[in-house]
Amino acid sequence: MRLTVFMHSPKSNEPVPVRYDVEDVDLASVDGVLSTTRSVRLRLDLERPVSNDLLLDCIDIAEQGPGGGNQSSRRWLIIRDRDQKQALSELYWEGAGKWMASARDKLADTDHRNANVMRSAAHLAEHLADVPALVIPCIWGVHDDSKKPGLFDSVVQSAWSFCLAARARGLATAWTTAILNHDTEIRDLLEIPAGITPVALLPVAYSKGGDFASVPRRSAKEISYFDRWGRTWENRDDQAARRITEGPGVTVEIDVDAPPTKVWSLICDISLSAQFSEEFQGAEWAEGHSGPAVGARFVGTNRHPAIGEWQTTSTITEFAENQRFGWAVGDDEETAAARWRWEIDELHGHRCRLRHTVRLGPGPSGLTPAIEAMPDKEALIVDRRQQEHLANMVRCVEGVKALAETS
Ligand SMILES: Cc1cc2nc3c(=O)[nH]c(=O)nc-3n(C[C@H](O)[C@H](O)[C@H](O)COP(=O)(O)O)c2cc1C
Repeated sequence: MRLTVFMHSPKSNEPVPVRYDVEDVDLASVDGVLSTTRSVRLRLDLERPVSNDLLLDCIDIAEQGPGGGNQSSRRWLIIRDRDQKQALSELYWEGAGKWMASARDKLADTDHRNANVMRSAAHLAEHLADVPALVIPCIWGVHDDSKKPGLFDSVVQSAWSFCLAARARGLATAWTTAILNHDTEIRDLLEIPAGITPVALLPVAYSKGGDFASVPRRSAKEISYFDRWGRTWENRDDQAARRITEGPGVTVEIDVDAPPTKVWSLICDISLSAQFSEEFQGAEWAEGHSGPAVGARFVGTNRHPAIGEWQTTSTITEFAENQRFGWAVGDDEETAAARWRWEIDELHGHRCRLRHTVRLGPGPSGLTPAIEAMPDKEALIVDRRQQEHLANMVRCVEGVKALAETS
């Protein structure tokens, strides 16, 4: 007995549209499912059977996802046969499991940020054949780098809907792709024809307990840019023209082919940016301060063709080794003229992504007199300042990258 019958009438098998009024949405439940659908590996219940009806219900829901050309191009392989699961599990072990188990053993009892992920990933690799169902979403098409939408664009959203629908029914999934490295072998094993692309392998089981938590991610305000790349806003209100009080900012990022420690040693130099910026001239530690630490103060010198030269005293507000270095222009974040930050995200151990941000305000700054003198030009002044910062910050991250990769 299928649990949902809204896609097809049980009598005629004709599609029956489901209607749902948004006023009936229980936002807490919806957001709860969206925020807590984790990659579950340690808590898969390998003993409890999962019915095919339940899997098909999840696929019916997933098929409501959008697809290029409104064509029905997705296909779903549901692997239940023990021998097929065993064969897939051996491929997974060869391609990734061995490596995951060795990484788990290496990281065991350390506080490395990947220690838990590796413990969980290796556990899945060791038990893949015992998972009740392995679901492989596939798409008609071959990835040809044509830059046209169509291939992954038409399947990934549905595959994720499948995971969400499963979670809402007490099932757990994990998004895995390691097996895809064995393209020829999985095609042979599963008899997938040429012209069809499998995009993931989703182990599906009931979860042991239904309680999962959301995890820290960068906030939307940090990674959402308005109108043009890199322009951030802390409190933007689009019912009026842009204002400095909306917290305009700029973010630039660059991938660096050097480890975080190398980049960190460069960005800890408070004068480094003077080599690249057309505005910042250099900095010196304020009296009584001699090196970077939270609370330490330094005096920076700036020069601008329209303003001339000026100095500011900044206070370090964040200092997490190899990760984050932030300072407020002024005494603290609450009254700062601007807040600056370097951040380093490790990428696969040996590389990193360098991120440089500035957020203007919330206190008065050099822009304040200009805005007071020309209030009708506020939006333009803010826009120009973002543009100037962006250009200089791009020079800085490119300069740091060059130094880190060559020195
Ligand atoms: C494209 C992609 C490929 C992934 N491949 C694997 C995989 O092969 N094996 C695995 O155990 N997890 C895989 N994961 C899961 C990630 O490791 C997982 O998302 C990460 O551990 C964070 O956990 P969360 O999903 O619960 O937030 C993959 C995730 C994505 C998005």
